[in-house]
Amino acid sequence: MSNLVYVCSSCQARSPKWSGRCLSCGAWGSLREEIEDKGKKAPWSAVAPAETIGLATLPTAGEARLATGQGEIDRVFGGGFVPGAVALIAGEPGIGKSTLVLEIAGFLGPDHPQLYVSGEESARQVKDRLDRLPGDFRGLRFLAETSIEKIISTLAASQPALAIIDSVQTMAVAAVPSEPGNIVQIRAVTAELVAIAKKTGLVVLLIGHVTKDGQAAGPKSLEHMVDTVIYLEEEKSRGFRILRAAKNRFGSTNEIGIFTMTGRGFEAVPNPSSAFIHERAESQPGSVISAIMEGTRPFLAEIQALTTKTVFGWPQRKAAGLDVNRLQILAAVLHKRADINLANQDVIVNLAGGLKAADPALDLAICLAVISSLLNQPLGRRTMAVGEVGLGGEIRPPGKLKARLREAAKLGYTAAIVPAGDYGQTGLKIIAVDKLADLVPKIFTPPSK
Ligand code: TYD
Ligand code: MG
Repeated sequence: MSNLVYVCSSCQARSPKWSGRCLSCGAWGSLREEIEDKGKKAPWSAVAPAETIGLATLPTAGEARLATGQGEIDRVFGGGFVPGAVALIAGEPGIGKSTLVLEIAGFLGPDHPQLYVSGEESARQVKDRLDRLPGDFRGLRFLAETSIEKIISTLAASQPALAIIDSVQTMAVAAVPSEPGNIVQIRAVTAELVAIAKKTGLVVLLIGHVTKDGQAAGPKSLEHMVDTVIYLEEEKSRGFRILRAAKNRFGSTNEIGIFTMTGRGFEAVPNPSSAFIHERAESQPGSVISAIMEGTRPFLAEIQALTTKTVFGWPQRKAAGLDVNRLQILAAVLHKRADINLANQDVIVNLAGGLKAADPALDLAICLAVISSLLNQPLGRRTMAVGEVGLGGEIRPPGKLKARLREAAKLGYTAAIVPAGDYGQTGLKIIAVDKLADLVPKIFTPPSK
């Protein structure tokens, strides 16, 4: 049985009679005639219901992660590779992506066979590189190929534990008419690899090039398709290679690994948490050591501040590696709550070592660095500071404060300026400060007026 109904094209209201104006939303001339079939079956009624799974009855997979045994690499990947996971390793050309994945294969060794598929290099070229790298490559097989159909057929037949695809920009799915490297093609390639990984438990390392201007023609748009996104970056001042987890479905993000690139591939930097601070015999006014969290690991960081009398116009506020808005807020709070007058001072702060951080735990160190520069008084060389600063000038403990303090103690610091609290045995002398107004009297010699 069917009926005529009138449906408003702007609000979807249905009425049995036509009228020039929709009674529901008031739009003029929006009603369209439709035939309503009362006997019509719903579109899903012809589809058989699916089997669902009682999750509690499934056996637990346990710790089935594939680990390389290399601490710096494994931590960034969340403790190893989860079977069926697809990880995108992105970075600029020449940064060391191919070298890194080869090393991973070598560390996994013959017990976990690997297939390295390259659309960029020949077997000979890859072999030349292998000879310089540590690890056991007896489990590694090579395929120079760009056709995804061919690659997946090979993977299905040979069933390695790990497949390396170098790079996503050189591969192509035959059914997709775009050129390799085109965004449509890149996404199709990734979708095929994700499908085979999920189906077979294969781990896929997908390499993606990122161009110099950060224009991630590809990698950025793949982030939601893959399980893990790892960026390989170069730290400009000392040439460290930094491996950073930007997304990890199976581990924490912002986890970083720090390496140097040597003649024998990547080498983990010893004492990575002190990699970004310069050891000096004397401490300088304006320099304060603090601790930031990168993922689950604390890193010591050096804040440098410089205050100079404004010679022209408005006082300047500049920040490198830190948020300049945060600096402006802290400068205002210092003025209001601690009577530190910066109205005629240009203030520049810098997070040393080319690091970038938005960790509010740096607030206290920034304030101390500014005061230290302004008064031209250094902090003790083995003193560090951690704390968040509120608009009322109050100083609060940040998350993971104990871990930060323990790390500082491990690296030879002897005193910490922190909000009062019970931090247990840290090995540091605690200098408790609860509000910004405490800083000058407790830490510095007040200027004679
Ligand atoms: P590569 O892994 O080819 O970079 P990507 O795949 O990201 O384009 O490595 C680039 C550079 O690394 C290359 O200039 C050579 C250098 N390298 C070393 O310094 N040490 C080594 O042991 C190897 C294998 C390469
Ligand atoms: Mg390469």
